[in-house]
Amino acid sequence: MEGGAAPTQMNNEVVIAGGSVMKAVTRTLAPQSGHTRGTGRRTNLMPLLRSGGRAHTRSSDGRGASGFEMILVVGASGYLGGYTIRRLLAVGRRVRAASRDRQKLVELQSSGAELVQADLVDRRSLDAACDGVDAVLAASHSLLGTGKYSSAAVDEAGHLALIDAAASAGVRRFVYTSAMFASPDHPVDFLRNKAKVEAHLAASGLSYAILRPSAFMEWHVHNLLGKSLVDSGKATIFGPGANPINFVAADDVAAVAAEMLTIAADVAATLEVGGPDNFTRNAVAAMYGDALNRPIALRHVSLAAMRIAAPLVRPFNPVLARLMDVSVWSETSNQVFDFASRTERCARPMTHVRDFIASRVADHLDATRLRRAD
Ligand SMILES: NC(=O)c1ccc[n+]([C@@H]2O[C@H](COP(=O)([O-])OP(=O)(O)OC[C@H]3O[C@@H](n4cnc5c(N)ncnc54)[C@H](OP(=O)(O)O)[C@@H]3O)[C@@H](O)[C@H]2O)c1
Repeated sequence: MEGGAAPTQMNNEVVIAGGSVMKAVTRTLAPQSGHTRGTGRRTNLMPLLRSGGRAHTRSSDGRGASGFEMILVVGASGYLGGYTIRRLLAVGRRVRAASRDRQKLVELQSSGAELVQADLVDRRSLDAACDGVDAVLAASHSLLGTGKYSSAAVDEAGHLALIDAAASAGVRRFVYTSAMFASPDHPVDFLRNKAKVEAHLAASGLSYAILRPSAFMEWHVHNLLGKSLVDSGKATIFGPGANPINFVAADDVAAVAAEMLTIAADVAATLEVGGPDNFTRNAVAAMYGDALNRPIALRHVSLAAMRIAAPLVRPFNPVLARLMDVSVWSETSNQVFDFASRTERCARPMTHVRDFIASRVADHLDATRLRRAD
């Protein structure tokens, strides 16, 4: 069901039009000093709402969804930011798309987005980007950044600054993209930084949602593994590739982000956003082989080698060291998301890894045919 109905809030659940029950809503909020505060209980789950990003909302001041006049998306040139913007524009929302380089956003501009140049390490640019904005999506990261764009500068300090800029500008809703498994004592600094930002947002007084997605298929299935198999039939896997990992399509996360950007302003939520499949990297590679209908060759970098190398290279190549840390962690810890036990509350179909791979391989084969025809 779409159109018109407002969600009702009962017993820490929000029922969205269409009957989706968002058990993941974590905090029932009571107005306090013009802001909203919660009771702080966290539950997990990601029911997705196949409403094309349309939300039916009730805000604490009665303005309703139409009160969110302008939505700022930081990280607009990335997968999640871009998909979310397309969903918001498709349902008539006004969007301000932020990037350090506006040239990256010309396509979104032609689709109707307003553009702004903003850099998470430049507070003034964040103040300007937040001016006149009702809701913000933070969808940036600097996992591989160095120097002034180190993860500490962007993923931690830059995001704290964005939250502060949003609060100062009177933004009414802040949606932060964290990551599944982020925690204050995580072995990977990037995921500790995410936990610090979560805590800062929860204490900010802003109405908020925190999304904690698993690994995006776009990056972890395709760009970092499948693309090489498609291009050359060969790929390198950091680790044995034998640990099951949950993958989620960025556009499925975007559907949740769009919903959370426009949902009732009196609700705070921390949502784990996982996909329906847990596969090892070796299994993902085999699926590419099946889809390509040709043999593939895998090379594995051993865990022992990465454990020895990471501390040695850290002083002069912190990014490579972090990648090794992430690889060791993702191959040796529980990365499974128990989607099946949660699907009864899902209102939309989620992308399966096999279908995602089939579509990427089909794109590749189409492009190859076109090249040959030229
Ligand atoms: N990828 C995953 O597997 C995964 C999993 C869980 C959570 N997440 C989280 O989901 C969010 C989106 O990830 P993604 O994979 O969609 O991103 P992505 O495609 O890798 O794009 C990264 C984005 O970060 C922006 N960015 C980097 N440094 C910036 C800075 N100094 N100031 C402003 N923007 C900056 C880039 O914008 P410009 O270069 O245009 O400025 C770009 O739009 C991130 O918070 C990420 O940590 C991702």
